[in-house]
Amino acid sequence: MAYIVDLQASWILDSRGLPTVNCIAVLDQNGKKISAKASVPSGASTGTYEALEMRDGDKDFHGKGVQKAINNINTIILEKVLNKEFTSALDVDNLILSLDTSGNKSQLGANAILAVSMAVHRAFAKMAGLELWQYLRRLYFSTLPATPRFPRLMCNVLNGGKHADNGISIQEFMIVPNSGNILKDVQIASEIYHSLKKILHASGKSTALGDEGGFASSFNDSTDGKNNENYFQDSSKIPTERVLDYLMDAIVQSGYSQINCELALDAAANEFFVPEKNIYIVDNQEFNQTTLTELYKKLVDNYPLISIEDGFSEDDILGWQVMTEMLGKKTHLIGDDLFVTNPERFEKVGLQNKIANGVLIKLNQIGSVSETCTMINKAKDHQYITVVSHRSGETTDDFMSDLAFAAQSEFIKLGAPARGERVAKYNRLLEIYHSLR
Ligand code: PGA
Ligand code: ZN
Repeated sequence: MAYIVDLQASWILDSRGLPTVNCIAVLDQNGKKISAKASVPSGASTGTYEALEMRDGDKDFHGKGVQKAINNINTIILEKVLNKEFTSALDVDNLILSLDTSGNKSQLGANAILAVSMAVHRAFAKMAGLELWQYLRRLYFSTLPATPRFPRLMCNVLNGGKHADNGISIQEFMIVPNSGNILKDVQIASEIYHSLKKILHASGKSTALGDEGGFASSFNDSTDGKNNENYFQDSSKIPTERVLDYLMDAIVQSGYSQINCELALDAAANEFFVPEKNIYIVDNQEFNQTTLTELYKKLVDNYPLISIEDGFSEDDILGWQVMTEMLGKKTHLIGDDLFVTNPERFEKVGLQNKIANGVLIKLNQIGSVSETCTMINKAKDHQYITVVSHRSGETTDDFMSDLAFAAQSEFIKLGAPARGERVAKYNRLLEIYHSLR
């Protein structure tokens, strides 16, 4: 049991240099005060059905200010929880969730609610003398086996779509190390990332970084000149395949093969879906539900591609059905914008239509820690795998690493092994690993 004696919200900058909500929660247990802080991420390719991220929309920060969300914490939420006694962070979550009856957190803001929820979970963990992952395990995942299991890494080393200005339709090209050891997996990710940089550089391509720390090189031009021939025999390849070839080269040049490192894509297909025509435009070519699934199948057949996220748009149930039918047995098909970490939507859209076989887990899509954990458990109950994920706009908060480990999530998606806000997540996994030895 502990009392909440203060909540202090303020804005800090995220990795895109935009404001986001930071919250400090202070607990009191028998006169002993414990405080903990948390900050929330922000997406660029957000799904329509996500909980509302409250932005001020006035002249400050080009409309991206978060003062309203901050005020909601410092006044409305604080007033309701101040000097109240709670048995757990889940109790606090339940009370705060009852204050917003909108259904999409548009009254208080998902960014406000989540910042408090994360900070309070950290504070309760600290009060119990536990690591955050231990506290989350105890509160939400107590039926999981006691043996620690680290998630496999999905590392976005080449950025396209909304996260880069390079004309590539697919949003994320990821390497997925497969050594069975988290320490070695992080090493593999780092080595391949640096090999890729060298290869891109040697091909005359830019090694500027996209939002998630992966390279944002252009593949619509022929800057790779004569080197091009070394990499591509088949000039008919569309940029998506050319990028995958670069990734394969980087794997090999690092001394690995597809045994040690596989690949994954996040198509983020909402962004290249043309609803008026019911078509998808990938790398300047038009696709329908069948032909796009065939493109994915070709990629799965030709590359060690184990996972495709948001291969179809969030409302295209037919597309998802065609893809699930053709690829669902051999490939992880992950719903991000499709499910938005929402257990009800997962039930209504996923289970009823029998589409996808995995759920992307983003804390700020649903807007509280407890609901996120409900989603993870529901996915597990129905044999869907989970991928705990960062957002393209991040802070150095590493809550998601504890969550992925606590929940024994099959995967964690955390960007490139570069830039402070991404590296924070990798390093927290390493810290947990070392703390267990
Ligand atoms: P976002 O992208 O954070 O910009 O939404 C990440 C993703 O689509 O998985
Ligand atoms: Zn996604």
